[in-house]
Amino acid sequence: MRIHETNHAVTVELFLDGQRFTARTGESVAAALFASGVKALRTSAHLHQPRGMFCLMGSCQECLVMVGGRRVLACQTPVTDGLHVETVAETGADV
Ligand code: FES
Repeated sequence: MRIHETNHAVTVELFLDGQRFTARTGESVAAALFASGVKALRTSAHLHQPRGMFCLMGSCQECLVMVGGRRVLACQTPVTDGLHVETVAETGADV
């Protein structure tokens, strides 16, 4: 999911729970965070285990994060400069 034409991509800032990361325009939040070493995006409320990207195509719902107060899929959300992403609190909505 990393974009291939990196020479044309602009490097931007992305924040996860206030922690700063760099990303390239055109890549998804999930790809940018994974490339930066972030493997877990939330914790399972049921099993209390880390959950992260799995399908990277919008099917599994494992990459739920909060952007602008809304739950979104990190793998389907493009990075924009200064985007603030927050992890989803354990709610019991997942297994
Ligand atoms: S990784 Fe499966 S929906 Fe995002």
